[in-house]
Amino acid sequence: MLRIAVLASGRGSNLQALIDAIAAGQLDARVVGVFSDRAGAFALERARCAGVPTLALDPREFATRSAFDKQLFSHIDAVHPHVIVCAGYMRLLSEREVDAHAGQMINIHPSLLPAFKGLRTHEQALAAGAAEHGASVHVISAELDGGPVIAQARVPVLPGDDAATLAQRVLAREHPLLVQTLRCLAAGSLVLGRHGAALGGAPLAAPLQLDAENQLISGSRH
Ligand code: GRF
Repeated sequence: MLRIAVLASGRGSNLQALIDAIAAGQLDARVVGVFSDRAGAFALERARCAGVPTLALDPREFATRSAFDKQLFSHIDAVHPHVIVCAGYMRLLSEREVDAHAGQMINIHPSLLPAFKGLRTHEQALAAGAAEHGASVHVISAELDGGPVIAQARVPVLPGDDAATLAQRVLAREHPLLVQTLRCLAAGSLVLGRHGAALGGAPLAAPLQLDAENQLISGSRH
């Protein structure tokens, strides 16, 4: 069974989507630990409610980022995850840990990467006048939000949108996007690697796309 570790700093709605999909028998996996840099993160509460072990470490108690990450990842490694999912984890990861876990870590980011990396992505999309926006699941690499994109969900930007309405529309698609990506990983049809993902043994030529029925389909026509 696919063992998933989740890193989260806040609300944890993506974590909840995974927990719910597992409970509903839609995702054959187990969340083996939830890890945070914020003891007050609501994600930790969600994990505790689901009986998932949690750990929060306070970055202020460590002299350097790499000391913090070394400690954090020693705890993560101890639960033997097959995949480590960053879902609203707001701290930069040290290169050493990214490298040591290459091909094992994914992130969900609220934009159609490579567009709008970093923070305030909905504001960025509106400011750019984008007609389309969305979310991406990508393999984590040393470059922030820069690793190979595995799967995306697209939403329209509608007249009258503000950052809040757009964020809500994107978030509603993030949840099935993350669940479906992990379903494919759990089924073994999708395999993560250091340089991206492979589907059915062939490297992904383009990110998979979440369709209206919440299925991931080949992205080559986009
Ligand atoms: C999501 O928009 C995710 O894409 C981004 O941070 C947000 C986390 O939301 N990385 P939640 O904590 O999962 O509710």
